[in-house]
Amino acid sequence: MKPVRKAVFPVGGMGTRFLPATMAIPKEMLPVVDKPLIQYAVEEAYAAGIREMIFVTGRHKRAIEDHFDTAFELESALEASQKHDLLAMVHAIKPDDMTCVYVRQPRPLGLGHAVLCAEPLVGDEPFAVLLADDLMLGQPPVMAQMVDAYAKVGSSILAVQDVPSHETKRYGIVDTQGVSGDLVVIKGLVEKPAPEVAPSTLAVAGRYVLNPSVFAHIRQQSAGAGGELQLTDGIAGLMRDESVYAYRYNGARYDCGTQAGFLEATVHLALKRVDLHADFKQYLRGLDLG
Ligand code: G1P
Repeated sequence: MKPVRKAVFPVGGMGTRFLPATMAIPKEMLPVVDKPLIQYAVEEAYAAGIREMIFVTGRHKRAIEDHFDTAFELESALEASQKHDLLAMVHAIKPDDMTCVYVRQPRPLGLGHAVLCAEPLVGDEPFAVLLADDLMLGQPPVMAQMVDAYAKVGSSILAVQDVPSHETKRYGIVDTQGVSGDLVVIKGLVEKPAPEVAPSTLAVAGRYVLNPSVFAHIRQQSAGAGGELQLTDGIAGLMRDESVYAYRYNGARYDCGTQAGFLEATVHLALKRVDLHADFKQYLRGLDLG
């Protein structure tokens, strides 16, 4: 079985939900406390032993490439002024053993299409997909849990969690035919079903480990939910040929694709920061919540 060495980050979306913030800034660069969303996802992949980061970008996304580039002038200035802590922090954004590669998605034709754009860079090996909108906190980090699970089963794995039934239309929903457990074979998978027709309330979170055989299945799909080429439909096709697993991850997910989720992540992570904790907690305590 080949190890999971590569991660795909689909970052080509227009970020319309976060206008006007995203007029000139990619949504993946919006900071939660002081770190851009995309960096949380890249750090999670790195912690899982992944060293090749593949970004599927689009127009107006150059800030992401700059972020993971070596900031030579900044590093020299920090070195000259002996700001060693900041220097270490800047250097850690892209450790020396990490490679970043970029491919463009020429049109926003859907998540399945974005993943297909990465095929020439992924080649014939298993790979991870991380959606930066979903900020995942887990110990061990969620992708590390999934790479471990992949090493056990050698099959594609989707991270899942229970959601309230009125939210099924926001997610890919899996059918495990009532079988419970942390790692179970999926019997069905449907993108954004209405609650009345959803096979369960077990939703796909934005973390996947996929076998490369998924590419052929994505290619066979036509436009699905929302008129887009859906990754979910490609995985549903893959399920006819090989087992695909749902993995109930251990940790928390913040949906930073919505304002409410973004704010929750910000409050949660600010409270966890030793340098902010005391003052921020005091501020929150003093709030008149009406
Ligand atoms: C995508 C996937 C969906 C998944 C979700 C997780 O949807 O298509 O299956 O449940 O991410 O965040 P999107 O949020 O891009 O609409």
